[in-house]
Amino acid sequence: MVSPLGPGLAGTRILLGISAGIAAYKSAHLARLLKKTGAEVRVVMTEGAQAFITPLTLQALTGEPVRTSLLDPEAEAGMGHIELAKWADIILIAPATADLMARLAHGHADDLLTTLCLATEARCLMAPAMNQAMWRHPATLANADRLGELGWTLLGPDAGDQACGDVGLGRMLEPEAILAQLLSELEPTRDESPEVMPLQRDLAGRRVVITAGPTREALDPVRYLSNHSSGKMGYALAAVCAERGASVSLVSGPVTLTTPPGVERIDVTSATEMLAAVESRMPCDLFIGCAAVADYRAASIGEHKLKKANDDSGLTLELVRNPDIVATVAGREDRPFTVGFAAETQTLEAHAGSKLERKRLDLIVANDVSREGIGFGSDDNAVTLLWKAHDQTQRHSLPVQPKAALAGAIIDHIVSRLP
Ligand code: C5P
Repeated sequence: MVSPLGPGLAGTRILLGISAGIAAYKSAHLARLLKKTGAEVRVVMTEGAQAFITPLTLQALTGEPVRTSLLDPEAEAGMGHIELAKWADIILIAPATADLMARLAHGHADDLLTTLCLATEARCLMAPAMNQAMWRHPATLANADRLGELGWTLLGPDAGDQACGDVGLGRMLEPEAILAQLLSELEPTRDESPEVMPLQRDLAGRRVVITAGPTREALDPVRYLSNHSSGKMGYALAAVCAERGASVSLVSGPVTLTTPPGVERIDVTSATEMLAAVESRMPCDLFIGCAAVADYRAASIGEHKLKKANDDSGLTLELVRNPDIVATVAGREDRPFTVGFAAETQTLEAHAGSKLERKRLDLIVANDVSREGIGFGSDDNAVTLLWKAHDQTQRHSLPVQPKAALAGAIIDHIVSRLP
């Protein structure tokens, strides 16, 4: 059969593993999409998966008998499990539950699917799917890291509404997105022409938290203190990190931007809320404080709208300091690689350099917001990166370019310095 997507998967032998998650109902559609590319597809289901979708459905869609048990004499007499493990060019598990990830991370072989994964030399990929709290649990995150070390490629998870009513990272990627990512994963080996840039997945398995946009500090029910930050730079960084395989949580102040695909977005208003949201997503591997956080908030928020005086006298507001979010993250015992931004209007490098030290950052991205056409609100930016090495401040300048391109260059630099 000729694949409608080109020669991509034609003739490729794909073993589709299905485990016990509600997203299993989407695996039928995935099996169909894989077949349409011309791949040979065989399905293996765990016992629990059969509570969500029947083997008969997958058999009808793939035209092949579905394997469900390791200890099935009849099936073993046909294609034994070792033969099946050797048959596969690719093992793709979708959905992969937290439990299956744990078993695979620890080398279990207690059912057919895990046994095949131990016995195979095929390229192994999985699309995790679980409740957001289960995905964020340190045990699951450690298993995800271990699976990466063992050579697994994790596709997703995605962010958004969950079947259980929660919202967050943990949804299985949609079947179309799984297929697209599978094809790009295979891209460098399928097409060796020099013009094709291999897809960089250099943040696969990394957890990234980014703050973006302004904060709003209420004075009374109708007024607030804020700034001109558009959030564009932080959103561009979040998009790049997600494209490069990271699990990204974007803690965003009020902006009018759309959430980049695959990014978990947490909307907040004030600096105090932003700090709480950031702390709820710790620990992580990389924190980028891109938000223009208000340094001060009102000492007390008026219950009712503040009235102006009847005479010409002015108004004195009492303000108190807001927590410094990036410095709080950098001060944690389990601190991630911590990156701050410095928007300055004068003596850029001196101010940024002192923030680098004072806030104990690993890297600071300095930009001159007094220059026309770059910085706040605009689509372009130019920055200087500053960091410490051998007790000396090092610098690297990135010229004026669209914020999306600049985000890629900043992430390239961060990746080269990540532990
Ligand atoms: O406002 P300032 O120039 O100190 O900001 C430098 C860095 O510190 C930025 O990365 C900003 O996101 C972060 N910051 C913060 N919490 C604050 C103030 C600034 O995280 N309260």
